[in-house]
Amino acid sequence: MGNGNREQWASRFGFILAAAGSAVGLGNIWRFSYVAGDQGGAAFVLIYLIAIILIGYPLMVTEIAIGRKTQQSPIGAFKSLAPDTPWWLTGALGVLAAFVILSFYSVVAGWSLAYTFKAIGGFVPGLDYETIFVEHITDVFAPIFWHALFMILTLLVITAGVVKGIQRWAKILMPMLFVILIALVLRGLTLEGASAGVSFYLSPDFGEITGETFLTALGQAFFTLSLGMGVLITYGSYLPKRENVSDSAGWVIGMDTMVALLAGFAIFPAVFSLGFDPAGGVGLAFITLPAVFAEMPWGGFFGFLFFLLLSIAALTSAFSLLEVVVAWLIDEKGWDRIKASLLVGFIIFLLGLPPTLGYSLLSHVNILGMDILDTYDFISGNILLPLGGLLTSIFAGYVWKSKNVIAEANNPKGKIIFGEWYGYIIQYLLPLAIGAVLIWGIVDTFF
Ligand code: PHE
Ligand code: NA
Repeated sequence: MGNGNREQWASRFGFILAAAGSAVGLGNIWRFSYVAGDQGGAAFVLIYLIAIILIGYPLMVTEIAIGRKTQQSPIGAFKSLAPDTPWWLTGALGVLAAFVILSFYSVVAGWSLAYTFKAIGGFVPGLDYETIFVEHITDVFAPIFWHALFMILTLLVITAGVVKGIQRWAKILMPMLFVILIALVLRGLTLEGASAGVSFYLSPDFGEITGETFLTALGQAFFTLSLGMGVLITYGSYLPKRENVSDSAGWVIGMDTMVALLAGFAIFPAVFSLGFDPAGGVGLAFITLPAVFAEMPWGGFFGFLFFLLLSIAALTSAFSLLEVVVAWLIDEKGWDRIKASLLVGFIIFLLGLPPTLGYSLLSHVNILGMDILDTYDFISGNILLPLGGLLTSIFAGYVWKSKNVIAEANNPKGKIIFGEWYGYIIQYLLPLAIGAVLIWGIVDTFF
């Protein structure tokens, strides 16, 4: 418990890459492009960016500060700052969210791995990519196989530990991801007719905005930044005291936002250029894009790069989701890392079976108009994460107190200085904004 053997990132750079690895994921590419497409493009993107700056950044600093101060994973962190109170339940909510998110995340990541291999065979014009995708997800065994493979890859890294596993692989995979992304953006923007996609993406239409748009934008901000569930508390707990918190968080936010915006530039111009519908839903990346790749010169190669990028991004995020649960078992229950990883990995594999089978054996299951995977996604992204963020901000503002967050954020002094303004943000803006959007969005979505 907060002992001297606790692993630490080797440097600030190691932390930033690992945390950016957590942030940059399916959320930036698959989830961002489909929610932005569904919610009408630019107006949604604008609300999302405002949420990132006003809510995401202060909350990220808060979470890292809690972890760094206590040197504990989420449940222990809340216990150590507020002993003998029920606040540790906020950490427990995060552990629960980690289970829910990783179990559907791994299913979608599995589709992505499968498509990386499909792309090697080439995406060719004239095929019906909708049928191909439907055949893939309605099959009983293939999606289970890819989901299992993805969990095994995640386990290989997490069993190796924080420095030799997570940090090492983030340093290898994140630069690869940036290079691939840039290649895809250049390809998308140089296609004929790409400008219609660029203007869909950049010219807002505020007529379409509803409570659901705000909830979706807020949920997306939380999901994409890995906020509201203790990932950053956990990763912050491995951050050495000599490194600054507020600047590091700025780098993580900057990288995540850049990848999301660039992914939009890689995807929408290509979708428009070839006359597809941007509101393609969850299938946008898996149905529309292979069809787009099939039509473009060198499409098989770019398709392979795209799904490789998606799989890499998913993998570095999965590390962080699994690490939240594993760190809790190590810190609080004294478990061995390997044993904890294997057990949790196996449970998550099992929890992932319902969403995997939600298109085949369990396709009759429909919860409030959503299939099982959408339900996991909705509950975790739009409810558990904002709720976790709401509780964390109330905790930091009123229980731990903003002056303590400010002290930790500025220690040692960085370029971005946290001043008294932070107190207003954490005590008033965050609870009111998150609370209001949560209630309004839920009412608007269901009633
Ligand atoms: N941020 C990741 C993404 O954008 C998903 C994630 C959410 C990871 C919550 C960890 C915690 O894909
Ligand atoms: Na993200």
